[in-house]
Amino acid sequence: MLLVPPIALAAVLPLCAALQIPFHARPSTPPTSTPSSRDAPPPAQEHTLSLRHAVHFSTTHRHLPPSKRDYSTFELAALDAQPDVGLYSSTQSIHTKRVRARRPNSQEAFQAARRASYWTPLRAMQEGRLPTRQEVEDTLLGQTLEWEDVEIDAPDVKDVATLAAFGKMTSNAYTLPDSSGWYDIGGGWNVSDSFGWQEDGMRGHVFADEQNKTVVIAIKGTSALIVGGGGGTAHNDKTNDNLFFSCCCARVDWSWSTVCDCFDSSYTCREDCVEHAVMTKSAYYPVATDLYNNVSALYPHAQIWLAGHSLGGAIAAMLSRTYGVPSISFESPGDLLPARRLHLPLPPTNRSRNATHPSGGDKPPTRSLDDELTTHVFHTADPIANGQCRGTISTCGIAGFALESKCHTGKSIKYDTVGRLGWSTDIRTHPIHVVIEKLLIDDWGVKPDEVAVQRAQGDEASSWFGWWPGRGNKKPSEDDGGEGAGEGGDEDEEEDDGQNGGKGVPEPHFEDETCSDCSKWTFI
Ligand SMILES: *[C@@H]1O[C@H](CO)[C@@H](O)[C@H](O)[C@H]1NC(C)=O
Ligand SMILES: *[C@@H]1O[C@H](CO)[C@@H](O)[C@H](O)[C@H]1NC(C)=O
Ligand SMILES: *[C@@H]1O[C@H](CO)[C@@H](O)[C@H](O)[C@H]1NC(C)=O
Ligand SMILES: *[C@@H]1O[C@H](CO)[C@@H](O)[C@H](O)[C@H]1NC(C)=O
Ligand SMILES: *[C@@H]1O[C@H](CO)[C@@H](O)[C@H](O)[C@H]1NC(C)=O
Repeated sequence: MLLVPPIALAAVLPLCAALQIPFHARPSTPPTSTPSSRDAPPPAQEHTLSLRHAVHFSTTHRHLPPSKRDYSTFELAALDAQPDVGLYSSTQSIHTKRVRARRPNSQEAFQAARRASYWTPLRAMQEGRLPTRQEVEDTLLGQTLEWEDVEIDAPDVKDVATLAAFGKMTSNAYTLPDSSGWYDIGGGWNVSDSFGWQEDGMRGHVFADEQNKTVVIAIKGTSALIVGGGGGTAHNDKTNDNLFFSCCCARVDWSWSTVCDCFDSSYTCREDCVEHAVMTKSAYYPVATDLYNNVSALYPHAQIWLAGHSLGGAIAAMLSRTYGVPSISFESPGDLLPARRLHLPLPPTNRSRNATHPSGGDKPPTRSLDDELTTHVFHTADPIANGQCRGTISTCGIAGFALESKCHTGKSIKYDTVGRLGWSTDIRTHPIHVVIEKLLIDDWGVKPDEVAVQRAQGDEASSWFGWWPGRGNKKPSEDDGGEGAGEGGDEDEEEDDGQNGGKGVPEPHFEDETCSDCSKWTFI
């Protein structure tokens, strides 16, 4: 009785997922948007957001309630009056645009579908047991997952000022509440609190506009390495980072094997084992959804957007996929690997229907860059964003991190700082203030250094920072016309590099279709 139905269901499941079930009016969860906000899109294209709260969630002591600190307008005025390195105005203006998006109709169904796609009835059978009650329930509930087509406001990521405003909100999450850095416990916090700023956990800075209609959560993780500053890094953070961003459970120390012991032999890894570890041992994703739900409960009628830097950026992107809301992430390590291992369900993409070729041919499903909700902003010299922070000699290796993933979900806006500014790979280019000051400006790459640029491009060493395969201008494999190419076009690489001549925001692109993580590894 228990065994048979789930198997039958499992057989039906892929079919259901492939079909695009039209959204029909089920009693939908109210928080997403009120009728008024949907029917009458705000005429104002500009939103002014100011800091309202900081919230902190422990990743190790999950039973403890989250902390919250509220900022009064008086405190904000005091903060803004304080001249401080790396502290930007607590009020930021952004531009928006309308996008079409898909979002899950129910979080319960989304999470059930996520779990059910790992703990399948087939897995239970292979393990020689009956599916558990939870597995059966997840399978059933997961099948009710549907994706609604909605039209929503999103930050205009082609606008430099908007990107910079998000960067500044993200940066403030590190430096507030006061000048002496993020370890300080400001007024309003429970000072005796054992899990305050100093230990691991996740912090969100909540910004809202005057009408409480638009809320931005800037998310920050607490790894000292990722902050780029000193301080002890909790073991738990390393564990989480290495679980998420390394190919096969990079070992931190002797205790690591209890977390993830999936390494089989040289460059061979048991994939199922890693997925199990990520699904069950990683605290980041469940804590992040708690954070989102708590802020959503504070502002039940608001549209919520996400921002984050580094680890916080990866988390923002995952929440963006989970809730179908916009995110802007800066210098995130590759988040595609953990998103896959977490089994985050993806919305069905619109297949190009073609009567002449009913099979659909080989044409990939259409995806629109304009409508993509998840945005990654990073540059080519940052070893963390490019999956080069690994190995025992690198800074990361010494600190016990292996950040090896490089592929990002959603769309990527990639500043070619190696090619245009002559930067070399250096962890000191990772901090958010570098991005804000050097890149999120109008003419970031239009320097008179064209000579240096060309030297860098000719240099062999720079080839590992090139564009991902498929997008690259490096190896035109089919269309090189031999001699014909030599005449005029050989120095014309600039026009096609997606960098818009170093002005404003580089062209976004999808990298997850062409990028591959951990290519040295065999997963069994
Ligand atoms: C502060 O937190 C500790 C531990 O969580 C708790 O025992 C104590 O009652 C809290 N104090 C206040 C004033 O809330
Ligand atoms: C917005 O929310 C805050 C609480 O964070 C509340 O104090 C304020 O009155 C709200 N403003 C409006 C216009 O609803
Ligand atoms: C807020 O977070 C706590 C965990 O810190 C969680 O137990 C609670 O359910 C969350 N609240 C909401 C409304 O999601
Ligand atoms: C998918 O196609 C449907 C019908 O053509 C359209 O209404 C919807 O907006 C499309 N969704 C996306 C995300 O493009
Ligand atoms: C269908 O596909 C064929 C070949 O790929 C193309 O020539 C034709 O224009 C397509 N029709 C539509 C309606 O997209």
